[in-house]
Amino acid sequence: MITADLPKRLVIGPYELPSPFVLAPMAGVTDKPFRALCRRFGAGMTTSEMTTADTSLWQSAKSRHRLDLDLDAEPVAVQIAGSEPLQMAAAARACVERGAQIIDINMGCPAKKVCRKLAGSALLKDESLVGAILEAVVAAVDVPVTLKTRTGWDHEHRNAPHIARIAENSGIAALTIHGRTRVDKYRGDAEYETIAEVKQRVSIPVIANGDIASFEKSLEVWKLTQVDGLMIGRAAQGQPWIFEKLNAKLQGQSLFTPLEKNDVRDMMLGHLSELHGFYGESTGVRVARKHLTWYCEYLVNAEQYRNRVVRVDSASEQLALTAEYFDRDDGGIAKAA
Ligand SMILES: Cc1cc2nc3c(=O)[nH]c(=O)nc-3n(C[C@H](O)[C@H](O)[C@H](O)COP(=O)(O)O)c2cc1C
Repeated sequence: MITADLPKRLVIGPYELPSPFVLAPMAGVTDKPFRALCRRFGAGMTTSEMTTADTSLWQSAKSRHRLDLDLDAEPVAVQIAGSEPLQMAAAARACVERGAQIIDINMGCPAKKVCRKLAGSALLKDESLVGAILEAVVAAVDVPVTLKTRTGWDHEHRNAPHIARIAENSGIAALTIHGRTRVDKYRGDAEYETIAEVKQRVSIPVIANGDIASFEKSLEVWKLTQVDGLMIGRAAQGQPWIFEKLNAKLQGQSLFTPLEKNDVRDMMLGHLSELHGFYGESTGVRVARKHLTWYCEYLVNAEQYRNRVVRVDSASEQLALTAEYFDRDDGGIAKAA
């Protein structure tokens, strides 16, 4: 039975989110079509893929797609990355002009440089610069500003609790902590003790992130950290319905009703069409390949279908092969999904 001490409310500024389970920003994955899908399945919030704070680069096709915001899904959260306070402030203002209702600052990216400049989690080494960036962005916009970061620089410098205090004092509205340090990249297991320490140090909402792929794991992290929300990244790839599953269990439903075969088929066909329309056929087909590969992990007898569908070059072939797979008697979603 689900215990009552689980957080059921995640509030960021004026926004009370419908679920404490939120989708992680993932560059190249959480584009507008995928975010819409996760929202439909009950994600409490989604955030755009990281966009550079250098607005002179916003004319590129990549940035244009990243800044194509889902304006009907409140709150509209946009993530920016950069290292110069004034540039970050200007980028935040420009995002708000485009409809952003929450600005999320990325200090979690393990890449040494984002757009040739020190950014992401590399900034964690320079705490005064962190403070300057956060203060500049908070002062620049009237919407809540949130921060996503890691537990620290390396295992000897897990300074997230200190960064969290800087963030709270700078007016940051909520914090997400990925339970790895920068040097870990994505290796090893996430740890949550540092996140628990962050939660104790600040009174703003804290969201835990890293390796959360089931309700049981969510419970474990919750018990350890007492955080206000949980962020799901890679576990949503290929199964955006994970949010429905987590929400059902949170509401105390011990049994989640798995999706019907037809529902999965319609969802996948819809997702493909959205990708083809959003990026145009050539790029859309390419982007769709990785989603199809992830979907196949949750489908039965899908090996042959996967091998074919990731090799075709046209939107119509991707759609036809997918429809054909679901027409088969032995095709469909795996029971555990
Ligand atoms: C492909 C990929 C792209 C990512 N892009 C971003 C990003 O743009 N901004 C960000 O803050 N984190 C990014 N991340 C990190 C995730 O938001 C998240 O912190 C990380 O995957 C750990 O969560 P998980 O174990 O639930 O996946 C990315 C992760 C992956 C796998």
